[in-house]
Amino acid sequence: MNLPPNLSIRGGHLWIGRHDTVALAGKYGTPLYVTDEDRILENYQAYRRALDNRYPKTRILYAAKANGNLAVLRALAAAGAGADVFSSGELHLALSAGMKPRDLLFNGSSKSPADLQLAVEKDVPVSVDSLDELRQLDRAAGSRKKTARIAFRVNPALDVPTHPKIATGLATSKFGIPHQQIPSAYEEALSCRHITPVGIHCHIGSQILAVEPFALACEVMMRITAEITDQGVDLEFIDLGGGLGIPYHRSEGETAPSPEDYAKAVMPVFTRGVGEAGISPELWIEPGRSLLADSTILLSRVNSLKPAHRTFANVDAGFNLLIRPAMYDAWHEVIAANKADKRGESRYTIAGPICETGDILAHDRMLPELADGDLIAVLDAGAYGFAMSSQYNSRPRCAEVMLKGDDESLMRREETPGDLTAAMQTPPWQEL
Ligand code: LLP
Repeated sequence: MNLPPNLSIRGGHLWIGRHDTVALAGKYGTPLYVTDEDRILENYQAYRRALDNRYPKTRILYAAKANGNLAVLRALAAAGAGADVFSSGELHLALSAGMKPRDLLFNGSSKSPADLQLAVEKDVPVSVDSLDELRQLDRAAGSRKKTARIAFRVNPALDVPTHPKIATGLATSKFGIPHQQIPSAYEEALSCRHITPVGIHCHIGSQILAVEPFALACEVMMRITAEITDQGVDLEFIDLGGGLGIPYHRSEGETAPSPEDYAKAVMPVFTRGVGEAGISPELWIEPGRSLLADSTILLSRVNSLKPAHRTFANVDAGFNLLIRPAMYDAWHEVIAANKADKRGESRYTIAGPICETGDILAHDRMLPELADGDLIAVLDAGAYGFAMSSQYNSRPRCAEVMLKGDDESLMRREETPGDLTAAMQTPPWQEL
């Protein structure tokens, strides 16, 4: 199998970085998310090199929704990243991790008055998703005697090759302002007393395995850039969003474009566009999955085996911890971590412990003969894995461990039964 570069097989066990997954599972218990900080930084540096080689002013805003653990955000902040934040919670996390307000972009298609107030108070630029929001933000900034720096989120009306639930730039999508309306939106922004339009933003979708859609989106953005520059908008940044995919189907030899491939396709369109407009704004991008996904595995123990219409391997992690297979029919590679050198001999369907038929992590996978207690590793779980977890069926969430070189540490403890009830309140009439 095409393993991610930080995974290897030694002595029959799966290793991540310099760590034996069997030892990690023994020490911390299962289920367990294990994240390799070195891999995140390698992925980040691959983007940095690809951009630095082509344009002097670029910024990477990590999409914090992919994995909001502070340890992840801190590592990326220290490396120089900012963040795309999509909620007040993500804004809070990014600032707590040491990111500067000016290195963030507050995104969102439905921001509350409290969200807008927070952005104004913290001086975080806002990607505005409607004219209604623009007017509310103008008032929020005015009442605090401040000026809000904004971009508009453009809906470029582009069909992209990905799962429909994660295509965000379709004409029918809820995100962004239709591209035809963008010039008049900037016209209005220029006339607002407490708004300064400084950027333009789009994001066409996620898990995109070709670079052409990004180049096409960039062309649309460059056309609009020329137009709004003529209108008198002084753009400080153009944000092309995230979306580069990763090769989940590793056993089938799938490949994904690298940051270098991305930059090779997009940057000429960008540099030509800004050159023709006679401006030199910063280029921002917002990768999430391509920074995080392959840094992390989910370790899960086999509870029991059941020959039925399929052979089920019942494991201790389900869609409470990794919802992508249930939600998007997503494929994640599965390895028998304690038998990693053995050949696949039987087909197993890896089923979680949740009380739902759809709680299947992987269907019909060829794996070595499994037994109770065996350890399963689900690969590429770093993006939208723990971040989308829940306590469904009242299952406390599992721990997350971070690795760096020879070091290992919890970056989140396992939740306890007490955490299940921590936010619950007793209505007074139920008090004894
Ligand atoms: N910027 C914006 C405005 C976004 O909405 C997103 C992702 C990103 C950047 C980062 O995209 P990435 O580089 O990670 O593709 N839960 C789904 C993915 C949802 C993506 C939502 N937006 C999944 O598990 O596949």
